[in-house]
Amino acid sequence: MCGIVGYVGQRSVQEILLAGLEKLEYRGYDSAGISIQGESGLEVVRAVGNLAALKAAVAEQGAEGAVAVLAPPATAGIGHTRWATHGRVTEENAHPHYDPDNRVHVVVNGIVENYMELKNELQAQGAHFTSETDVEVIAHLIANDLDEHGLVEATRRTYNRLRGHYSFVVQSSEEPGVLVGARKETPMIVGRSETEQFLASGIPAFLEHTRTVQALEDDELVVLTADGARFMTADGAPIERETQEIDWDVDAAEKGGFETFMLKEIHEQADAVAETIADRTVRPDGVDLPELDDELLRGTKRIIIVACGTSYHAGLIGRYAIEEWARVPVEMDVASEYRYRNPVVGPGDVVIGITQSGESLDTLAAMRLARERGATVLAVTNIMGSQATRDAHATVYTRAGLEISVAATKTFVAQVAVMYLLALRLAELKGSLSAERRTELVTKLKRIPHDIDAMLEHGTAAIDRVAERHFDKDFFLYLGRHVGLPVGLEGALKLKEISYIATDAYAAGEMKHGPIALLDQDTPVVVVATDSPVLDKVISNMQEVRVRGAHVIAVASEGTDLTEHAEETLVVPPTDWMLQPLLAVIPLQLLAYRIARLRGLNVDQPRNLAKTVTVE
Ligand code: AGP
Repeated sequence: MCGIVGYVGQRSVQEILLAGLEKLEYRGYDSAGISIQGESGLEVVRAVGNLAALKAAVAEQGAEGAVAVLAPPATAGIGHTRWATHGRVTEENAHPHYDPDNRVHVVVNGIVENYMELKNELQAQGAHFTSETDVEVIAHLIANDLDEHGLVEATRRTYNRLRGHYSFVVQSSEEPGVLVGARKETPMIVGRSETEQFLASGIPAFLEHTRTVQALEDDELVVLTADGARFMTADGAPIERETQEIDWDVDAAEKGGFETFMLKEIHEQADAVAETIADRTVRPDGVDLPELDDELLRGTKRIIIVACGTSYHAGLIGRYAIEEWARVPVEMDVASEYRYRNPVVGPGDVVIGITQSGESLDTLAAMRLARERGATVLAVTNIMGSQATRDAHATVYTRAGLEISVAATKTFVAQVAVMYLLALRLAELKGSLSAERRTELVTKLKRIPHDIDAMLEHGTAAIDRVAERHFDKDFFLYLGRHVGLPVGLEGALKLKEISYIATDAYAAGEMKHGPIALLDQDTPVVVVATDSPVLDKVISNMQEVRVRGAHVIAVASEGTDLTEHAEETLVVPPTDWMLQPLLAVIPLQLLAYRIARLRGLNVDQPRNLAKTVTVE
């Protein structure tokens, strides 16, 4: 899971590549590199660390005048930001990779599964490898065919020898001004203009230069020169590809005045929910989801939700809503487990894959397995054209906008909103919920963006107090019941991933069966205690915590006084108990955020994590 970018045109390629990589850094940031077609051939600069380290390396080599590449204007080049899979985080393993004669440079996102077989073959022919990666073989294979077949055909032949999932861009010193891109199951998009062309894993990498794009599909290659792009299949047949215009705002990818992307994205949550439900909640007593077939929904007897991480938590909330409102049984599984337990799934089942990126390999694999076995597969994703949308029979998009921070926030609330929409649509089609109750829920759902804004405008004094008191603790426990449980799970995940504090999240009723042993004086216990039919039970659990000297931090609905049951209370606006997760999660995101900042951590790029996890 990496970010790749390529450029061919008239401008200084070094700046364009570095700026493009900056926009893709969310995909991986343990090392980075660029390779440029300079006057004396292909020149590479690589560095361990995030992009700042690469920029420093580029500046240093430029200052010493040691690298011809750094004298613009070179006209073509490729860049990469890495999230390590095969091979440690070292400069040798950073991309671009190259052949021993330095004639072919390549940047790759993904995994070559048959690399050992290819590497053994190449080594038997005397090849010397300089990295531990699975992808260096690509440069060697292309270089071997270069003289006989030229860059494009050599790349095509190599592409057809690889197994796995990958996209890559390659360039050769033998053919200046040419880039060749190839794609199999990981994202790659072409940016077009009359005089310069771009290739990248994501549109933000070149959005400031062009809004005209062409999609590269699976098993396709594209050849870029300054004046155009030529598409072909992996068999070499030419393809005509339509262009599309992108209407994203460049500023959407910037921090917009906030200190971090995560904080910006937390503040974009009202919009994320509003956009996601907007035209789908026009009718007062129901929801419209024209993307989904009514007959399919009406006939649905069983739903299975597969997802990972935060998306899994959104799925858990969806399960409560679908079962409560539509009375359709729902099974949940983490995607990485689902595919390996030989699940009983087939025709008649509806499998929903929830994935903000649309590229999480575990989720895609679970969706594909279900589809192979005859189930109808739906995707809930934030990224148009992502792999999940191709693997599914139909897609319901969240409309959260681009999420840069590794820790998901606005995509989570948008996913939860989609699950509510789906549950309401199902309930209407199945006649399981009265028009009156549907009207009540639609009305309250439409109020949520306003409530989120009001909560954020109200300020974070209480959250800041809790953060200051507990930021140096080693462990936090989170408790919740019913829809409060996935909120607790999500709060715990947010805290552990950005603050590196150990957390556990449990169904409050389960605490007495084990986790209660963890409590001692001062353990912070975050309890989701918003209004619901199970609030009394939750309050009893809070008492069990307090008598053991631990500190209860309650998330409570405005108007419900929990001060005698909790040391601290984080208040959220009242709403229907089923919809509470959309509000209750926000103080938990902010609490995790404040604690991570007080610990001096980089919240946008937590260690060891990446935004899109395209490995198993
Ligand atoms: C969220 O904060 C995490 N970084 C992670 O759990 C994430 O939700 C998970 O990797 C799933 O990603 P997806 O939604 O893109 O499939």
